[in-house]
Amino acid sequence: MTTRGFIIDDRQTPRFRVNRRAMVDPEVLEEERRNIFDTCWLYVGHESELKTPNAFKTRKVGGRPIIFTRDAGGAITVFANVCPHRGMQVETRPEGTWRFIKCFYHGWSFDVGGNLVAMPDEAAYGPDFDRQNLCLPRPPQVDSYRGFVFLCWSRDTVDLRTYLANATDYLDLAADQAEDEELEIVGASHQYSMRANWKLLVENSYDGYHALTTHHRYLEMVKHSGASVGALTTIPTGVHVLGNGHAVAAGVDVNEGRSNGLGRAFADDAALQKHLARRARLIERYGEGWVNRMLANRNLNIFPNLMLIDLVMGMTIRTFYPESPDYMEISAWSVMPPKMDADARRQRMDNFLTFWGPAGLATPDDVEALERCQQGFRMYRDAP
Ligand code: FES
Ligand code: FE2
Repeated sequence: MTTRGFIIDDRQTPRFRVNRRAMVDPEVLEEERRNIFDTCWLYVGHESELKTPNAFKTRKVGGRPIIFTRDAGGAITVFANVCPHRGMQVETRPEGTWRFIKCFYHGWSFDVGGNLVAMPDEAAYGPDFDRQNLCLPRPPQVDSYRGFVFLCWSRDTVDLRTYLANATDYLDLAADQAEDEELEIVGASHQYSMRANWKLLVENSYDGYHALTTHHRYLEMVKHSGASVGALTTIPTGVHVLGNGHAVAAGVDVNEGRSNGLGRAFADDAALQKHLARRARLIERYGEGWVNRMLANRNLNIFPNLMLIDLVMGMTIRTFYPESPDYMEISAWSVMPPKMDADARRQRMDNFLTFWGPAGLATPDDVEALERCQQGFRMYRDAP
């Protein structure tokens, strides 16, 4: 079976429809694994997560366990988290620093370069034993763009810069906020899951249409904090196709930096003045046109499963992967320009919890909505 016939894309009417079977059929997921997750560039992590040489994080990328690390010289490296001996997952800690990893099963040890450096009873393997070929495996392609690290499980895919196409413009709008430094991941990550098809979260992550209804409770809270929700939601937005499946819903700031995204009002006049001073500094550096785009809401999807959501009140990196057609695991990080003042950083961290957090005032409503869609898809034969 192919996925052809699942989509009606009639640009005349215009009408775009997806057969709901695409959200429930295991064969569709199998094709997505082969044709999307095995061939596209996938987000691994941000360089700022690895602060020192020998630091590492373990995680799954495209369904495979990996080790994301900085080698002794400071270079970013990715290894498949699998022992070349019998295939055991070698590192089980979520993060740490390492000089050597010793596989729990038979005790082979690897250094930060992935080389097999020691093993019990090596002499018994005889003279033909070739240690050189028994390194920790690396993904065929690893590269980064402005601190965002990606890998690709296929050798045949175009290079990262070509793959990102016009999405680089929007990664620049995020990264330039760091002025002469680099963006940094702050705090721990969110790890949660949904009993829903992964494509629903791609769509939901830049669907502005649901905000007023699904997130009514959050917007009430914002209103009570003194911000004008009406004014915030009238910032003009458009959706732009960026090539290779990437797209963005982006706005332009029309309020001289006074709208704190979808978030609560600035705590006091001093906070607003600091925000305006930062805006003036950015304009001096980049010009007003770029800064008006920079300091506006932006929901960027880098195909297939990386969302960079910048709602001015905070910036979130979100990625997710399907374990089955009706279940996905989600990771999210708060990313910030290092030069922001302490109060603004605190407020952003607070928004990361109260808006985006798995137990916040917005994300649980999205989880509810998508899980109920998935329930509705049991009707896919009757209401395709
Ligand atoms: Fe790792 Fe045997 S599986 S040493
Ligand atoms: Fe939402």
